[in-house]
Amino acid sequence: MRYMTHNEIRNTWLKFFEEHKHMVTPSAPLVPINDDSLLWINAGVTPLKKYFDGREVPANRRITNVQKCIRTNDIENVGVTKRHQTFFEMMGNFSVGDYFRKEAISFAYELLTSPKYFGIDKSLIYVTHYTNDLEARDKWIEEGLDSSHLVALDGNFWEIGEGPCGPDSEIFFDRGEKYDNENHNALELFKKDEDQERYVEIWNIVFSQYNAKPGVKREEYKELPSKNIDTGAGLERWCCIFQGVDSNFETDLFKGIINYTEKIASIKYNGQKEYKVIADHIRAVTFALADNASFENYGRGYVLRRLLRRSIIMGKKIGIKPPFMYKIAPHVSEIMKEAYPYIVNEIDKVVDTIKKEEELFLNTLEHGENKLKELISSSTNKVISGEDAAKLYDTYGFPIELTKEYLEDLGYTTSIEEFNKYMEYQKDLSRKNQKQEGSMSSQNKALLEFKKPISY
Ligand code: ALA
Repeated sequence: MRYMTHNEIRNTWLKFFEEHKHMVTPSAPLVPINDDSLLWINAGVTPLKKYFDGREVPANRRITNVQKCIRTNDIENVGVTKRHQTFFEMMGNFSVGDYFRKEAISFAYELLTSPKYFGIDKSLIYVTHYTNDLEARDKWIEEGLDSSHLVALDGNFWEIGEGPCGPDSEIFFDRGEKYDNENHNALELFKKDEDQERYVEIWNIVFSQYNAKPGVKREEYKELPSKNIDTGAGLERWCCIFQGVDSNFETDLFKGIINYTEKIASIKYNGQKEYKVIADHIRAVTFALADNASFENYGRGYVLRRLLRRSIIMGKKIGIKPPFMYKIAPHVSEIMKEAYPYIVNEIDKVVDTIKKEEELFLNTLEHGENKLKELISSSTNKVISGEDAAKLYDTYGFPIELTKEYLEDLGYTTSIEEFNKYMEYQKDLSRKNQKQEGSMSSQNKALLEFKKPISY
């Protein structure tokens, strides 16, 4: 297999589907448009929901994209595993009531194996399919995959709550024996669903043909009038494979960022989590700000604030003096500008916003850290009360997640339950105060103009 850069991989993907009559749609912004159900775009299909549920008809029923996504539910795993990220790109092809199972499999097989495109040897490809989906199995075999590389699994059914759902085919790439000392039997590994490094999932093809309804058994779901194809392939994993590296952080998407970070750190890069977290979070923050999100104390903006603050704490551990994240952002733009030319026009605004936010945080961080150290040294049982953690948040803007991580590193704990209880209590108190303020403010102009200072 030849080495491919991230730009080559994206372009090959889009070109293939364009040649097969798909409409190439640019990545939608990370902040969802007209969709309050989500904080962030989190899959290639998300901005296309309007087509899948019939609200709009696309100009072309075949669509392909490479979509920027943010998912923060596994944030603690970023930098710990080889493949968790908050910001990632998903390559996809979609059919809105046009082609279905057979054509989708045919496209996938050609794109993966043809020397004109990705040229992967078929002996390195394994596919899992829904146990009852024999049509998919037969089609993979007809295309040329050996039956010993097909695995039937009951779990291969993609469904998230009510709405379109269906069986899926997951495609895995065999990275070889060097990732599998005991030379396991592939089929057994898939069946047991054990964590393993040898077979990496690179593409999921969902045959969206049923309508899920709560309380209805899967076998009894109704068929959708218009059957759709939804697929997702994680770009970073493809980069790993085509660049012959072990983890996403060693690909050309991350290398330039980590190299620069090493220049401003006092501890050299040796695979540390801190470097990876910073590299991941700066990608998320840079693109989110470029896509018009902002730092706030709630919702989406709080997520961004948390990513930036977490990075600053990580930076301290590898000897980087803050503020520094604003200096890394232009490296993200440099790496990504071919795929996302608009980033070049946004980067000055992004850098400025990050720098201001870092300075804001630094003003209080030092006080917060000192207070936390005091609490740690006066604790006799390696526990900091949830109330103290809440006060750290209230007074110094020290997010609970940071307190938790900080404590965990030293073998200390705190009670999240107690933290939440105290925060609720504070909220009630402030609601009551607001009422009083409200009634008084009608009598007192000074109070009307009084603004509560933000805590950081
Ligand atoms: N939407 C499908 C996924 O996220 C393709 O796996």
